[in-house]
Amino acid sequence: MTYFSMEDQRLIFDGLPLDQIADRFGTPTYVYSAKALKEAFRAYDQAFAPVDHLICYAMKANSNLSILKLFAEQGAGFDIVSGGELRRALAVGAAPDKIVFSGVAKSVEEIKLALEVGVRCFNVESEAELERLDEIAGQLGKLAPISLRVNPDVDPKTHPYISTGLKDNKFGIAYADARRVYRKASGLQNLRIAGVDCHIGSQLTEIAPFEDALARLLNLHAELKEDGIQLHHLDLGGGVGIRYSDEEPPAVSAYAEAIMTQLRGMDLQLVLEPGRSLVGNAGLLLTRVEYIKPGEAKNFAIVDAGMNDLIRPALYEAWHDIVPVCSQPDTPARVYDVVGPVCESSDFLGKDRTLAIHQGDCLAVLSAGAYGQTMSSNYNTRPRAAEVLIEAGAARLIRSRESYEQLLENEKALLS
Ligand code: LLP
Repeated sequence: MTYFSMEDQRLIFDGLPLDQIADRFGTPTYVYSAKALKEAFRAYDQAFAPVDHLICYAMKANSNLSILKLFAEQGAGFDIVSGGELRRALAVGAAPDKIVFSGVAKSVEEIKLALEVGVRCFNVESEAELERLDEIAGQLGKLAPISLRVNPDVDPKTHPYISTGLKDNKFGIAYADARRVYRKASGLQNLRIAGVDCHIGSQLTEIAPFEDALARLLNLHAELKEDGIQLHHLDLGGGVGIRYSDEEPPAVSAYAEAIMTQLRGMDLQLVLEPGRSLVGNAGLLLTRVEYIKPGEAKNFAIVDAGMNDLIRPALYEAWHDIVPVCSQPDTPARVYDVVGPVCESSDFLGKDRTLAIHQGDCLAVLSAGAYGQTMSSNYNTRPRAAEVLIEAGAARLIRSRESYEQLLENEKALLS
């Protein structure tokens, strides 16, 4: 499904001309389509309809409150990794019993809050965390629902920075230790074993690593049964990858088919934590060309969005398509590095892009809905971008552009 079209040489996104949105809200601005978000969620929900399932949107991909509210209204639960993300979920009225809490470094304060509000499950990543959780639950007189995040040692065949299920990654409990740690958990007074969990990596473009991870978890499930430990759910972690350029990630329906085949006959609820595939291609970043700078070796299109707005190209050498929002047939195309205002040579949004553009033109950086705004920073004291949602044919602001007052306030008040 594409949400783009061209009309009178203007790029239309979910029914609205992007140049109009740039003029109205300024740049840099993230723009999302509610329709695309809902359809992405529905793809998962429908594909897994034959089995008992819960889709917990991994909000680290994009945690704008309006987007969380939209997903909650579609019936989504949430995967959170911090007290901050928990507060976001609560701020949109998300049901705590649909929240799973992942993350390697849950603090005492975060665990307390999660126990008090009653999250569905803690995805426990170490024995030390298990002990801390048991202790705090005991103090609060609560029973903490847990699953162990097992590290299945499966190669997800993705970028090393976003592989999470290999032996040398910091995440989860080693597969070889999992049975023992479950036995230990079953002996702890203030814990209730709810399920098992894994997450092997992000931007997976093949189904096989998911199948391998699932096979290992099901094997563990059988072993635990022998030990008298019954799991209620199995959480297979994040979702499938998305298309940024020429990748061919599996359709959600094909992924679901494979997973459901393996799960047949199992008395387990399936929990999934997709992030990128729910939001990535539902969003883009609008930016304006400040200067065209011909160079000796390269031509540069210097734009007003930088690595502080979208760090993926700098951090992972990630590819994002970049297209002018108004095409100009009479303008000669040149090859540009599209670079930002930040004082780093890694501050690029795209390299060697053939574009027919002038100073002042607006560009759309595509597939930027996931890990865009959430990974943005104030580096170079740059205010964070605005965010806009297109819904029912209208665009509305869902996060105002940060003001310079906001940027300085925490320090200004403390000037001696
Ligand atoms: N669950 C857990 C425990 C995770 O760590 C992640 C992502 C997800 C779910 C969501 O996975 P997804 O469906 O999005 O693949 N910043 C990187 C991606 C980091 C992913 C980290 N974990 C990027 O921009 O590519």
